[in-house]
Amino acid sequence: MAQFNLPPNSVIGKGKTYYAGTGAKNVKRFQIYRWDPDSGENPRMDTYEVDLAACGPMVLDALLKIKNEVDPTLTFRRSCREGVCGSCAMNIDGTNTLACTKAIDDVKGEIKIYPLPHLSVVKDLVPDLTHFYAQYTSIKPWLQSATPAPARERLQSKEDRAKLDGLYECILCACCSTSCPSYWWNGERYLGPSILLQAYRWIVDSRDEFTGERLDNLEDPFRLYRCHTIMNCTKTCPKGLNPAKAIAEIKKLMVERR
Ligand code: SF4
Ligand code: SF4
Ligand code: FES
Repeated sequence: MAQFNLPPNSVIGKGKTYYAGTGAKNVKRFQIYRWDPDSGENPRMDTYEVDLAACGPMVLDALLKIKNEVDPTLTFRRSCREGVCGSCAMNIDGTNTLACTKAIDDVKGEIKIYPLPHLSVVKDLVPDLTHFYAQYTSIKPWLQSATPAPARERLQSKEDRAKLDGLYECILCACCSTSCPSYWWNGERYLGPSILLQAYRWIVDSRDEFTGERLDNLEDPFRLYRCHTIMNCTKTCPKGLNPAKAIAEIKKLMVERR
């Protein structure tokens, strides 16, 4: 029987514990993945006790409190703190989600936090999204047209505009793609749910005149057809979107144009 072992330098060790002060009223423990590539050491799980009586309600509030008051070396991305920029995506309590919209009270007991799965880690909770963004670029995420631009804006009917609902709201957080088993195993070539949802956003835009070329670009056994409708993507999307449906719509268009 085949036996698989993690490389020795990826085994996660036990880290330090930072205790809340004696005056703490409502203590919650956060176990957080730590890895510093410059240290040469293995990753570890550090434990931080946070007094929720002196902390905001979201997981990002706790991370900021830890960074500001306990351990400035803790590294993570964030910007908008209201579910708009997508930069605070991480794995919290076993689910990919946004730290700024995940309520601490939603998790019973200790909260375990890891970076998004199956991506290289830059440091601590920061994943390397270079390949993800290159894939995004590959679908040409902008309006393409052959006809000259009108004097004012390109108009769209209300019905055509409504076709973009459920698509334009995507914040490219990568929660869906990094929850997709097909993307885990074939991420080099499979575009994954996030990028395919974005591709579909331009395919159905009535103002775009390159629909055929966009479909040609996806007509490939790996770029599109590695989706096996497992639905992890839709289940995890913190914006309530349905990338699996968008992928199914692209596949339908592929069949219809044959
Ligand atoms: S439905 Fe497709 S894209 Fe979504 S998780 Fe499953 S395989 Fe991945
Ligand atoms: S579809 Fe949802 S989970 Fe996927 S990148 Fe967009 S907002 Fe994030
Ligand atoms: S900080 Fe922008 S989505 Fe969380």
